[in-house]
Amino acid sequence: MSNETRKPLISGNWKMNHNHFEAIQCIQKLAYLLTKDDFAAVDVTIHPPFTDLRSAQTLIDADELRFILGAQHCHEADSGAFTGEISAQFLAKLNVRYVIVGHSERRELFGETDEVVQQKLVSIQKHKMTPILCVGETLSDREAGLTHDKILGQVRTALAKQSVEQVRSMVIAYEPIWAIGTGKTATADDAQRVISAIRQEVAKISSKMAAEAIRLQYGGSVKASNIGEIMSQPDIDGVLVGGASLDSAEFARICQYRLRAS
Ligand code: PGA
Repeated sequence: MSNETRKPLISGNWKMNHNHFEAIQCIQKLAYLLTKDDFAAVDVTIHPPFTDLRSAQTLIDADELRFILGAQHCHEADSGAFTGEISAQFLAKLNVRYVIVGHSERRELFGETDEVVQQKLVSIQKHKMTPILCVGETLSDREAGLTHDKILGQVRTALAKQSVEQVRSMVIAYEPIWAIGTGKTATADDAQRVISAIRQEVAKISSKMAAEAIRLQYGGSVKASNIGEIMSQPDIDGVLVGGASLDSAEFARICQYRLRAS
């Protein structure tokens, strides 16, 4: 399906990197490197750690920067006895607009199930933010030929209670777990095949209209040197970048991929 009508979304997931001083420096450098034309061509979200959010928000507001503030995670409840957790409600108060949900590191290291991911989605949307739902298969899923089953199952559970309007405005990131932080990437054709299957599944679960509007990202060892090929695929509307988003110069080159396209 052609991606002409869907504005590309480039997201930087810093994971547990950069304290709030480093965050300010990194955003300032990035703001210096990106132009008005870049922001007209792509949406850029930045997902720093929780402790950086207030500083990042203040900087973005004060300097009227065009970055969209994102978070990496939230709890599904609004408040309560959940020591150490942060709710979607609190993030919304900081002008956070996008929240990553169901990242494979959260699923694997912190035991988040498809059901919990689904509750988080609902909470993020209740507070008028956009979820970036991550789905992906392990290497053993892949070797057993279970890639599509695993991913489409994750999509089906997450979207079970979503209205057409909610689905069309969310983002799904396909992140093969074996490609995250390993330097290995799915080939652009491979990523396109899986992402196109996700779009078809969204059409089945929700509607054709939602499937045409929803933005689908690829994530897993995206760099300035491979983004051009990834973004040339018809169903890929953006990328979720981990390691390479920590370096402002590299992330700026990723955001400017279209300038190098032939
Ligand atoms: P990576 O991480 O770009 O470092 O592979 C991607 C992610 O985990 O979102």
